[in-house]
Amino acid sequence: MNFNALFCFLMVASAGAQAGTESDPHSYAEPDKVTVNALALDLAVDFDKRELAGSAELSLDWHDAAAHTLVLDTRDLSIESISAIAADGSSSPAAFTLDARHPIYGSALRIELKQAVPKVAIRYHSAPGASGLQWMTPQQTASGKHPFMFSQSQAIHARSWVPLQDTPSVRFTYSAHISAPKGLRVVMSANNAIDAALDGDFSFNMPQRIPSYLMAIAVGELDARSTGPRTAVYAEPSLVRKAAREFEDTGKMVEVAEKIYGPYRWERYDILVLPASFPFGGMENPRLTFATPTVIAGDKSLVGLIAHELAHSWSGNLVTNANAQHMWLNEGFTTYVENRIIEALYGEEDATMQLVVDDQELLEEMRGLAGYAQLLVTQLEGKDPDEALSGVPYAKGRWFLRFLESRYGRDAFDAFVRSYFDHFAFQSITTQDFLDFYSAQLEKEHPGKVSAAEINAWLHEPGIPADAPKVHSARFDGVDKAAASFLAGKLGADKLPAKSWVTYEWLRFINALPAKPELAQIAALDKAWKLSDSGNAEIAFRWYVASIRAGYLESRPQIAAFIQHIGRRKLIVPIYEELAKTAEGKTFAIAQYRKAKPGYHPMTQGSIEKVLGL
Ligand code: BES
Ligand code: ZN
Repeated sequence: MNFNALFCFLMVASAGAQAGTESDPHSYAEPDKVTVNALALDLAVDFDKRELAGSAELSLDWHDAAAHTLVLDTRDLSIESISAIAADGSSSPAAFTLDARHPIYGSALRIELKQAVPKVAIRYHSAPGASGLQWMTPQQTASGKHPFMFSQSQAIHARSWVPLQDTPSVRFTYSAHISAPKGLRVVMSANNAIDAALDGDFSFNMPQRIPSYLMAIAVGELDARSTGPRTAVYAEPSLVRKAAREFEDTGKMVEVAEKIYGPYRWERYDILVLPASFPFGGMENPRLTFATPTVIAGDKSLVGLIAHELAHSWSGNLVTNANAQHMWLNEGFTTYVENRIIEALYGEEDATMQLVVDDQELLEEMRGLAGYAQLLVTQLEGKDPDEALSGVPYAKGRWFLRFLESRYGRDAFDAFVRSYFDHFAFQSITTQDFLDFYSAQLEKEHPGKVSAAEINAWLHEPGIPADAPKVHSARFDGVDKAAASFLAGKLGADKLPAKSWVTYEWLRFINALPAKPELAQIAALDKAWKLSDSGNAEIAFRWYVASIRAGYLESRPQIAAFIQHIGRRKLIVPIYEELAKTAEGKTFAIAQYRKAKPGYHPMTQGSIEKVLGL
């Protein structure tokens, strides 16, 4: 073979062989040399010390014949000892160093092995302030009787409770043995059993290969209730009935998603309802979505969040972004699939209202973002992936997919997305991998429908392309007309046709209020519709922001109660931001924060302290 032919052969082989090999700027691991393929945890949950303590055994695949150093990610872990386990099972101590702590990425753990051993075992414990865990006192739970602990590993917090290669480009199976105080229940992103004995001793297995950010655990006073043959909810006892009712359509959601996107490959789909301090709305931990109780509105109006986390069972958990720079592959696809599930289950009108509100809020948000922050494919070297969170990978990602759908037609696009999930199942990929597959499939079968320049604009240019598909909600025409007359002073607040408004019609109305609403109009709205007392968190937080802008102080007691109770960043950060804009508001916000802080998750504390400059 001459040199050119060899060169070509190597190029082709490397192009086709391995998806998602781009290096991850947020991990010290060296997956080109060695990868972890299985993890066995043996941990004790200690509520007094606020720590997980025990061991992690990692099974290794070595890819580089010369390599014998294993580099893992850690943050604030105390490493007690490490042993190398040879093929014959014999173990010997391994030397290691722990690098100085990087403020964002933590400390690389460098394990010097004499040879490429098949396994290492690490004895360690987590720190009380571990960024990926929240430890709660009994007083911070609904019953007030027992302590509670839960994890949130995405984006890069798994490393604060397990030493591992904390990059989504590496996938592994896991098993766990967890000991906890008797009477409490331990659940994980694995094979939970509704009828597990609460005897302080739990075993788990996750036979599908997952990335590290999907490692999850929660421990507390948790009841379980079945909602269908493969679905259930776990929640604190006082909430479990209400949660089961709110989420009773979950089984149907799984079925409609399977119909379009292929089999659900994780066996069960259960939901864990966490205490209100959970810093996110939902987290797609495999087999066990973690969810905020703030989606339980009583009328199923916010179950789009469950559709979203379920959708990640295909986009994210099955086909995974290789690193956070390609997050739109996870969140954009998921936001798209979420809306398709809502459309299939609740109808086009509901799905369209959500699209219209999200599109409008995205355009609004992007007006405040620098150009680079508006890109779908991002550059995040040196950055904290948590800080990069915005609506862009979500709503712009979905908009791009809707654009492709509109050009190719729904049937062809659905078939393509389904084959994409099958093709890359259990792999971690980059945008380039997606594009290669797109070119080889959809574009090849239906040439000339979308240009390379158009694709490039969506992925690599700020803003939303001018010819992006627009949606219209007829339901909103009535809301817009009413809002216009109300704002012009022609229609009294009590005359709004809002008795029949569903959640999204209220969101549309509140979003139509001007940047600085009239105090008298806000007061009249509140008097007529009791918006400050809304039990719907999506309506409430938007309303509170509007009321602060208007200088309406009557809603302050409800705002105080809201931010004392809830730790979900999306709901409370905008309130703190708005309060921080005036001296009076900032004083109020700081006083509230000082009281709320012990109940907030470390991530929420970080976000609020940034807003308040503390
Ligand atoms: N995977 C995300 C949460 C996440 C993203 C955590 C990035 C850490 C880093 C989850 O699926 C999500 O998007 N949750 C949303 C809800 C959704 C309906 C938009 C949330 O928590 O608000
Ligand atoms: Zn998501």
